[in-house]
Amino acid sequence: MSQTPSKPLRIAVLLSGSGTTLENLLVLSAAHQLPAEIVFVLSSRADAYGLERAKQRGIPTAVVERKRFVLPEEFSDALFEAVRPHRPDLICLAGFLSLLKIPAEYAGRVLNIHPALLPSFGGKGYYGNRVHEAVLKHGCKVAGCTVHFVDNEYDHGPIVAQRAVAVLEGDDVESLAARVQEAEREVYPEAIRLYAAGRLRLEDRRVRVLPG
Ligand code: GAR
Repeated sequence: MSQTPSKPLRIAVLLSGSGTTLENLLVLSAAHQLPAEIVFVLSSRADAYGLERAKQRGIPTAVVERKRFVLPEEFSDALFEAVRPHRPDLICLAGFLSLLKIPAEYAGRVLNIHPALLPSFGGKGYYGNRVHEAVLKHGCKVAGCTVHFVDNEYDHGPIVAQRAVAVLEGDDVESLAARVQEAEREVYPEAIRLYAAGRLRLEDRRVRVLPG
């Protein structure tokens, strides 16, 4: 789980939807604000707009449709087969909505961002606006987002970073999602920078951030 800071991190991004998270990483990488190069984008859906964002920049893409497979193991085998030739140092999930089974070689090398303060509002069925709906319905006063290492369960792996935002009186799903996504656009790159600098140390299921 460490990386020499000398050369840019090779990142593969996995997504299922519009790709605003990918867009943020691409913009930061182009502005030299992320020590990383997005070398491959894979979607679990053929109609994901995130694929277009990658193609516009000449980044290789692939589609491995979840619906073509029954078991998560079969889907994951096909997915990692497509990822492997691109030799990513790190895999970043960015609005990727399917369960993965992580091969041993990628353990501790897959990050996800989830739009809630885990372990609340995580797990199967909690994604995108469904999370914000549930947070509002529950009457939470605080919402937020979590970057975590991915293991073989939904939204379960060791937490790298979290950012809280207030839930305001007049919030609806859109306004809350916008506030959480603003936090996501900061905290995901911060976590990737820590990874790239070799500053994340996994101890049991706790992630220690080593001093810079
Ligand atoms: C983000 O809010 C991300 O936290 C959420 O999807 C959105 C990204 O969509 N991810 C999940 O809900 C994963 N459980 P986009 O990057 O496709 O625009």
